[in-house]
Amino acid sequence: MILSGGEGTRLRPITHTSAKQLVPVANKPILFYGLEALREAGIRDIGIIVGDTEAEIRAAVGDGSDWGVEVTYIRQEAPLGLAHAVLTAEPFLADSPFVMYLGDNLIKEGVASFVDEFRRKDVEALILLARVEEPQRFGVAELDGNRIVRLVEKPKVPPSDLALVGAYMFRPSIIEASRAIKPSWRDELEITDAIQHLIDEGKQVEAHIINGWWKDTGRLEDLLEANRMILEGVVSRCDGSVDEESRVDGRVVIEEGAEVVRSVLRGPAIVGRGSKVVDSFIGPFTSIYYGVTLERSEIEHSIVLENSHISDIPGRIEDSLIGKNVEIARSMARPSTFRFVLGDNSRVGLV
Ligand code: DAU
Repeated sequence: MILSGGEGTRLRPITHTSAKQLVPVANKPILFYGLEALREAGIRDIGIIVGDTEAEIRAAVGDGSDWGVEVTYIRQEAPLGLAHAVLTAEPFLADSPFVMYLGDNLIKEGVASFVDEFRRKDVEALILLARVEEPQRFGVAELDGNRIVRLVEKPKVPPSDLALVGAYMFRPSIIEASRAIKPSWRDELEITDAIQHLIDEGKQVEAHIINGWWKDTGRLEDLLEANRMILEGVVSRCDGSVDEESRVDGRVVIEEGAEVVRSVLRGPAIVGRGSKVVDSFIGPFTSIYYGVTLERSEIEHSIVLENSHISDIPGRIEDSLIGKNVEIARSMARPSTFRFVLGDNSRVGLV
């Protein structure tokens, strides 16, 4: 089961109009990494929890055949918590053990080895943990050896630096546990409370601490870091065109139909299908999605979504997330002023 409902308040205004799980990282929607991770683990039957952004998620994922899996969409009436999502999915889950994967999470090593471990072990749940610097932003676990003894959601005073990673392996007992708990201070049925309920009933809940890279992409800085991490691994490819006056340094992917004219591209970076880069500079850790035009401008360490136009920007754009169909242009019109049409919760930094 992949959770792709929820609200994405920390990525507004992008998520006013789109699902946070569909924001591309290295030009691939985050959700697709999760689908691939489950497929690699040998899972073919995948339920996707959806909310208000159902239509968009359906349009992107379809019936799952592109991944060789079968996708069932499960509508959650409101984002009332991860354990509420489990209850909503009850008819789909039936009496099968399952993986619950949070659709905005990226786990570099995937989940195949944890799923194998769960298949081998006679435990009620296997929970992935990672050491983090700000445990108060996550669910936090306390261990006794490999066993989890206590879990707290977003504690003010964290009992350890072990955060719950967004992938959990459960047996059907988690459904009863989700039914037994009450909503938390943030009015959600917390999966951490449901797991705690299993522990309190004497069930064996084991932890697996991951050493590899993992990110919850809910915030801009985390999204940019995820983009950086995935771009680190790209292999250069040019399926578009680069003219003789351009220079491409380092690992750069130029997708089909993309055009690079009199520009410098310094990888790792990716230029999406049909995008046009003219008299510009694209610096490291930049993902330009499809149909974008970049003219006489410089950008690095940023993500630009589809069909946006950027031209004649006098300074370098950095650390930015630019939405779909956005126009950023210099105007010579008088009076010489800044003119903005910005969505709610937009953030602009001017020099
Ligand atoms: O990322 C790991 C963290 O994820 C864990 O450490 C926490 O223990 C866990 O509660 C969760 O915390 P978040 O507050 O970050 O969860 P978020 O609201 O971002 O939801 C995670 C995913 O699940 C996201 O893709 C949206 C989706 N979702 C969320 C809720 C609350 C649903 O589909 N339905 C929901 O009701």
